[in-house]
Amino acid sequence: MARQNWQAGNMLYPLPAVMVSCQRPEEKPNIITVAWTGTICSTPAMVSISVRPERYSYDIIKETGEFVINLTTEKLTYATDFCGVRSGRDIDKFKAAHLTPIPGVHVSAPLIEESPVNIECRVKDVIELGSHHMFLADVLGVSVDEAYMDEKGKFDMNRAGMMVYSHGEYFGLGKQLGTFGYSVRKTKK
Ligand SMILES: Cc1cc2nc3c(=O)[nH]c(=O)nc-3n(C[C@H](O)[C@H](O)[C@H](O)COP(=O)(O)O)c2cc1C
Repeated sequence: MARQNWQAGNMLYPLPAVMVSCQRPEEKPNIITVAWTGTICSTPAMVSISVRPERYSYDIIKETGEFVINLTTEKLTYATDFCGVRSGRDIDKFKAAHLTPIPGVHVSAPLIEESPVNIECRVKDVIELGSHHMFLADVLGVSVDEAYMDEKGKFDMNRAGMMVYSHGEYFGLGKQLGTFGYSVRKTKK
């Protein structure tokens, strides 16, 4: 089978495209769409976001040391794209994208109410990698929409219709193919 070998580039897809909210005291809140994000440690719970220094949000996150990762759904796809192609330098993205800022528990940056999961983060380190600087952050708390709690009190987030970003395109999730560890379980469900 013929294969092509390309030069180095970013091809790790699909990824979540999240809306990261941030705010300086006394200023309007802002949202930046970020696909270069990831879980980097379980205990302590830590995440990363990589942001170009020229983004309006970059200085806000650097100065306040805080941000919120808001997970995105199929319904939020339009807003996610919009917050990734317009700058908070020019507009109020919460207003323009009809999103609702609500107070967090641990940080001053607002949560996006329409998102099913909000992850409140405090910056621990900034690594200046090149085009992007990576904010390594502690997760201080997670807020979830009770609409997705099932009758047993389990959070069924896959009912929220999560969205993913893959090589320039947005998708919903496909059918469920298995569950964690199902390959070695007797009943393979
Ligand atoms: C799907 C998508 C993913 C993006 N991922 C990133 C990213 O990981 N890091 C980044 O710096 N910019 C990323 N961007 C671009 C910013 O979201 C965009 O420049 C935005 O307008 C910056 O907003 P601000 O100037 O209000 O901070 C992405 C945009 C889109 C549409």
